[in-house]
Amino acid sequence: MSGLHDVSVARTVLVGVTGGIAIYKSVELVRGLVKDGLRPLVVTTEAAQRFVMPLTFAAVSQAPVLDDQSAWQGSGGWFQHIEAARAASVMVVAPATANTLAKMATGIADNLLTATYLAFRGPVIVAPTMNWAMHQHDATQHNLRLLADRGVEVLPTEQGELACGEEGSGRMASPETIRLAVRRALAASARGPLAGKRVVVTSGGTRERIDAVRFIGNRSSGKMGRALADEAYLRGATVTLVTTQPPTGAAYDVVSVESAAEMAAAVGDAVRSADVLVMAAAVADFRPAVDERGKIERGERETLTLELVRTVDILASTARPGLYRVGFAAEAGPRLDRARAKKAAKGIDLLVFNDILAEGVGIGSDENEITMLTAEGEVHVPRTSKAACAHAVADQIEKGLAG
Ligand SMILES: Cc1cc2nc3c(=O)[nH]c(=O)nc-3n(C[C@H](O)[C@H](O)[C@H](O)COP(=O)(O)O)c2cc1C
Repeated sequence: MSGLHDVSVARTVLVGVTGGIAIYKSVELVRGLVKDGLRPLVVTTEAAQRFVMPLTFAAVSQAPVLDDQSAWQGSGGWFQHIEAARAASVMVVAPATANTLAKMATGIADNLLTATYLAFRGPVIVAPTMNWAMHQHDATQHNLRLLADRGVEVLPTEQGELACGEEGSGRMASPETIRLAVRRALAASARGPLAGKRVVVTSGGTRERIDAVRFIGNRSSGKMGRALADEAYLRGATVTLVTTQPPTGAAYDVVSVESAAEMAAAVGDAVRSADVLVMAAAVADFRPAVDERGKIERGERETLTLELVRTVDILASTARPGLYRVGFAAEAGPRLDRARAKKAAKGIDLLVFNDILAEGVGIGSDENEITMLTAEGEVHVPRTSKAACAHAVADQIEKGLAG
């Protein structure tokens, strides 16, 4: 397990898994954490392995699972509970059984999970789950209070039908709720150049009204902007996402807009106190000159002519000293020359170029291939996930802010 040394601590999440029936939801949780661009490192108890094979967690986390067996088989002069504790920024225990919560509350460290908890110095989240009577027992309630007083985030159990067939409070928080808590904890403990900075990100394609039912739009999915907002948030920034595609489960402020004019107004407000503006939205360049109140009828017409007028250039209108501006240039073809011209004309700090005609990347897809035009030169990121592209862009923003 010397691999423990290699993983990036800032993105590693220790996921303690114990022997509760809600363990099947932890498989989804671990998968979700991977989707969030994080590295789950799963530590299981022996009871957990009676419910779900370690292989399942190894497969979804794309990493070896740590357990008592791996701890006792250790060689090479390292201690797995200490190494695991050092390798991560956040620890979450889900499901957290009454038994493991009691051990955590009293400092019993008789297995790898509880020993790792004692050795861990970062934020800890627990997602208790058990039969309602076990949950309400004075011993469990006392242990939960002890943990909360010590700074452990105890996620509330949910009301509903329990696996034992009874009704009551004792269901584990949903994987989405747990993922959100993990992202919040990571963001709060981030220490890089974006930590504490105010970042405004735009995403999605605008819709320009023709009449009450029709609009001119584009195929932007908002995925690249969402990935950038998530990335900035994880690096500790205070994020506002101004978007035509509001996501569910975002940990930051989301302002929902429709047209270029609405987006310009929302960005104008949000950017006043911002340090960084990332314009990843596909904003219409033109809108219909007239917004018909009703519905344009087909009638006897053979053709319909719409007059279009220019929309406001949001990036150009927000220029001010102290605001680091990132623009996107989606060009049809390998037109880096046009991207360079755009960067120069608008005085943009960082311009991200992508070729919308390139196969399998860009608009609507989960992947992208970008070239970043920075103050120092050009950095190419070959085809990869939009999350990985967002990581590369955030690295450049941090360099720019530091410089
Ligand atoms: C089918 C089954 C379901 C269980 N579900 C839970 C549960 O949801 N919550 C809980 O606290 N204990 C539950 N238990 C009891 C724990 O598995 C038991 O206390 C075990 O010792 C926990 O060990 P661990 O905390 O080291 O994982 C369950 C046991 C069985 C057999």
